[in-house]
Amino acid sequence: MNKKFDVIVIGELNVDLILNQIHSFPEIGKEKFADTMTLTLGSSAAIFASNLSVLGIKVAFIGKVGNDIFGRFCKEELEKKGVDTSMILRNDALETGATVVLNFGEDRANITYQGAMKLMDVQDISDEMLAQARHLHFSSYFFQPGFKGQLNCLFKKAKDAGLTTSFDIQWDPIEQWDFDCNEVLPFVDVFMPNEAELLNVTKQYSLEKALEALEKNAKIIVVKRGNKGSLLWHNESILPCEAFVNHEVVDAIGAGDSFDAGFIFSYLQNEPLLQCQRFANLIGAISTTKAGGTAAFTYYREIMRTAKEKFGYEG
Ligand SMILES: Nc1ncnc2c1ncn2[C@@H]1O[C@H](COP(=O)(O)OP(=O)(O)O)[C@@H](O)[C@H]1O
Ligand SMILES: [Mg+2]
Repeated sequence: MNKKFDVIVIGELNVDLILNQIHSFPEIGKEKFADTMTLTLGSSAAIFASNLSVLGIKVAFIGKVGNDIFGRFCKEELEKKGVDTSMILRNDALETGATVVLNFGEDRANITYQGAMKLMDVQDISDEMLAQARHLHFSSYFFQPGFKGQLNCLFKKAKDAGLTTSFDIQWDPIEQWDFDCNEVLPFVDVFMPNEAELLNVTKQYSLEKALEALEKNAKIIVVKRGNKGSLLWHNESILPCEAFVNHEVVDAIGAGDSFDAGFIFSYLQNEPLLQCQRFANLIGAISTTKAGGTAAFTYYREIMRTAKEKFGYEG
């Protein structure tokens, strides 16, 4: 059946204020300079949606914002990249979230004010919304307490409606990792954590043990490993794939979300999983060539030109 959208993305929505080339680490009671500043679309889910849309997929976004300048900015930025924003929820009593990013080379320290994203929950997502797409992606569980203990219901609803599903858990700012993967993963087709997130959420010390802990319930797991590339777990085998190494990283903001977009782009076209993984690595690497999570993604042609010229990718 023909659906209005290929993918519905549900997740947090906020701006990123990125301060880069900071002279040294912040210290209480002192003031320092950053040499560059960028105000840009932030949040894992929105970066994923934006980059997937630029790749040519029909994407709609569901998130919650306030009636303010940051909320309008997020919506406009998504729309500029072709993402449908008509299902974004606005609450006039709330403020749109914001993340201040202090960036140091390939690493960064973030502080997030959650605002409206804190008050979105499963009840906000109707069956009619889900029925409009063939795939559901959810990102940033720990930033959205409205989904606590409810994510299995959301993913089950999506599966019952015939959608395929993917899930990027993202970091837990409280670092309690209070989440039972085995309740949710039966309804998730592609689980996409980074290495640290996977170890934390499974409470294991090695990747092998972490994957073992999930093997009864997971279908496909892709583990992001920064400039070491990624691992693909499927049918009891673990396949590594090296990164397309970028020696001139501007920043790695959104590399993981771009990786997710590359993977789902290929997955929706029924590409073999190894090709999904390789293309995901490529899109993650391309993300590191520009500041923030979305600047490297303007047009499909431009992306593929960077892929060829910078990373020798021929398809
Ligand atoms: N320096 C880099 N050079 C090339 N590719 C990179 C680099 N950093 C990240 N990537 C690619 O982006 C993917 C996701 O990045 P990662 O930092 O692991 O995710 P997250 O942002 O979720 O922590 C990696 O698996 C890799 O393929
Ligand atoms: Mg990530």
